[in-house]
Amino acid sequence: MLSLVSLGVKATRERQAGHQARKPPAAPARAPPTLRAAMPGIVVVGAQWGDEGKGKVTDMLAERADAIVRFQGGNNAGHTIVRNGTTWKLHLMPSGILHPGKLCVIGNGVVIDPKVLTDELDELRRRGVETSALRISANAHLIMPYHMLLDHAGEAKLGKLEIGTTRRGIGPCYADKAARLGIRVQDLLDEKILKKKIVAALDPKRLSLRPYAKDPRLDLQSMTDEYLTYGHVLEPYIADTSRLVLERLDRNEMVVFEGAQGAMLDIDHGTYPFVTSSNPVAGAACIGAGVGPKDIDEVWGVAKAYVTRVGAGPFPTEIEGPLADEMRERGGEYGTTTGRPRRVGWMDLVALRYAARLNSLTALAITKLDVLAGFDPIRACVRYRNDEGAEFTDFPYHQTVLHHASGEYIEMPGFTEDLSECRSETDLPEAAREYLRFVADFVRVPIVLVGVGPGREQVIWTEAADNVAIGPPTDHAASAT
Ligand code: IMP
Repeated sequence: MLSLVSLGVKATRERQAGHQARKPPAAPARAPPTLRAAMPGIVVVGAQWGDEGKGKVTDMLAERADAIVRFQGGNNAGHTIVRNGTTWKLHLMPSGILHPGKLCVIGNGVVIDPKVLTDELDELRRRGVETSALRISANAHLIMPYHMLLDHAGEAKLGKLEIGTTRRGIGPCYADKAARLGIRVQDLLDEKILKKKIVAALDPKRLSLRPYAKDPRLDLQSMTDEYLTYGHVLEPYIADTSRLVLERLDRNEMVVFEGAQGAMLDIDHGTYPFVTSSNPVAGAACIGAGVGPKDIDEVWGVAKAYVTRVGAGPFPTEIEGPLADEMRERGGEYGTTTGRPRRVGWMDLVALRYAARLNSLTALAITKLDVLAGFDPIRACVRYRNDEGAEFTDFPYHQTVLHHASGEYIEMPGFTEDLSECRSETDLPEAAREYLRFVADFVRVPIVLVGVGPGREQVIWTEAADNVAIGPPTDHAASAT
């Protein structure tokens, strides 16, 4: 039975969440869906505040894709993929790089720190990963040393009002792109052009960079030399990536567009100004990869079974105290990029429904359902209410409203079973299935994939996966519930 309860912004802990390890009997695993004849363009985006587990979902789709494309963000992102017990932490590299021979693209919409990219390439090669299929857009913008300094300085200046950026220089780099003062990947191939553009970019920043006047990182010649060196390393990978992707789509090959961050961090649609400086929503895949809207057939949103957020900003379903600590520990909720403890909260269905609309989600992947084992009741926010009692069933556009909004929740019975061995919907306890049904019905998007552990095999493909473009599982008849 579902019961509607009203809670404050900071939910207090009502019950110690016990964690029992009673494993439900395993039914035969449903095989991953097979591809239908027409191979689509699939966008995978974060439907919350980032860190939803997009890397794992993309990695699974990448196995059957011909190309994997990153289209926005930079090394503020961090994708963790666990394969055969080995953990891979990628920041700039598309998740597909772990699948030899697949075209892996860093699109024009990405901002690239070339030091991070060359280090990531070195590390992958050292660990025996073939990287020759990587292609980097010549039009992608570069994060320069002054972008990082300005990111630090900007946050310091904001003091208590800081955004909580990853301090990787993302915002200042996108700002230069919009101001037409950016340095692009293609500029690395010509010393004269590179130097001229650095001078032009530095000129309007003289005042803000004055505290760093003696910083060796800002020395024009050494900066130019350093970036030329990156250019030499990256040159074999630089390409007209839009053309390469369009060619694959023309041949009806499957292309996965891999989003970073999440809808609620979108610079236009998220909780501005506590957002990143790019558009993590699906529409940006077209711009950031250089394809048209009609090239996108499916949009998969990835959401955790609860919610996390790093950095500052409104978070209506945030939990604090021991309950939050327990959720954070169980979910391993520490930033891949910065190591910061993530803020945690109950599933926010108002925000998720908003994300579903913004992205035209055709499917949902719910990750980390196993983390909810032992929490009873489980809560899901179905509306917000402000200090004056006004109710919001839609995500409020106004910053002040959002800052004063607290969640109102549906309470559902919890479950205590360890889900890590579940491979089919029938393996799941009824309470977990009820929770998933409620989420899918509320958001009106089918859940096709459920994560029950960090390993790539720890997933459940649901029956709803039969109806999305990547087609029915091969053992459909045998495993149907
Ligand atoms: P920036 O992208 O470094 O400018 O940071 C802006 C905001 O986005 C901060 O709140 C960051 O914590 C957040 N952010 C950026 N990248 C990620 C991510 O990959 N996961 C979660 N939050 C992120």
